[in-house]
Amino acid sequence: MKAIPHPIQYQGSKRNLAPIILRYFPKGINRLVEPFAGSAAISVATAAKGLAKKFWVNDLNQPLAELLNLVAEKPEELGAFYEQLWNQQHPNSIDHFYRVREEFNRTQDPRLFLYLLARCVKGSVRYNSDGVLNQSPDKRRQGTRPETMRKNIMGVARLLRGKAGVTSLDYREVFKTVGQTDLIYMDPPYQGVCGNRDARYYSGISHEGFIEALEELTARKLLFIISYDGRRGDKTFGEFLPDSLDMTRIELEAGRSSQSTLLGLHEVTFESLYLSRALTERLNFKPSNYQKSVDQPVVRMERSGVKSIHTNTSHPFYRLLLQ
Ligand SMILES: C[S@@+](CC[C@H](N)C(=O)[O-])C[C@H]1O[C@@H](n2cnc3c(N)ncnc32)[C@H](O)[C@@H]1O
Repeated sequence: MKAIPHPIQYQGSKRNLAPIILRYFPKGINRLVEPFAGSAAISVATAAKGLAKKFWVNDLNQPLAELLNLVAEKPEELGAFYEQLWNQQHPNSIDHFYRVREEFNRTQDPRLFLYLLARCVKGSVRYNSDGVLNQSPDKRRQGTRPETMRKNIMGVARLLRGKAGVTSLDYREVFKTVGQTDLIYMDPPYQGVCGNRDARYYSGISHEGFIEALEELTARKLLFIISYDGRRGDKTFGEFLPDSLDMTRIELEAGRSSQSTLLGLHEVTFESLYLSRALTERLNFKPSNYQKSVDQPVVRMERSGVKSIHTNTSHPFYRLLLQ
């Protein structure tokens, strides 16, 4: 398959895990809904594989949502704007970054956001408590070259143009209008931050509020998938989703964290993927295909350098026996 385009550098992007996550998507999705879209990596990968007819891409971060809309609907203009802005950074690209950042904080212009994301390390935006973007530039790189950016933008536009509705709502608003023919893929902000603040994103969410909202989706028997929490080595970040939601949890091996690589450690990061009951039924995920797990990873599916493993923790779930 051709490389999947990715114009928007974004921390926590699911670009590399997309091939594994998509394995759990049912066939014939009418509409894929991403309430916490970020860079919309999963929508883009789903469109590239022809797995859904339509898309609803949502993120509370308004300039980000507007940027996604421009990528899909006005790719030529966006590519030209980026090229101009990128070329203006010479001879002093650091000063230029700070000037653009100041203008972005004043105007919230999504086209400036694209440049800022391309200029900071791994798209790692940071916000202060007033929601002001305060990340500094990557001093060693100049950001994606305009011709590469244009190719990526055009690639996404070819996949999503005319097929994607983009909004900037709180996820609970999105939940109100999703229905039986949708597949909802959720990748909320990381846990382990206090209250609703998360410097890594425009906003965090409360775990309890999220569970409550999920209970309702479960009662409505909707098809949904959630990427949630993380575990590195023996450390678990955040909480599991409760058994009352009756979801199946699968662990994905997401590779080594950049921090442990720097420290020369061999810790591997794991991510949980939860499938709703209605989805496991639709996928025919029968208990007879599974057995209660022991404590070792037994199933490894390797694809694009990403491994998926199913293993046991104190949380009851099943390991897949590949036959
Ligand atoms: C982990 S990131 C998603 C990354 C995405 N899967 C990707 O591949 O780029 C979580 C996103 O949720 C958004 N967010 C935070 N609170 C939200 C809320 N209440 N409703 C909707 N989106 C929210 C953040 O702005 C952030 O972009």
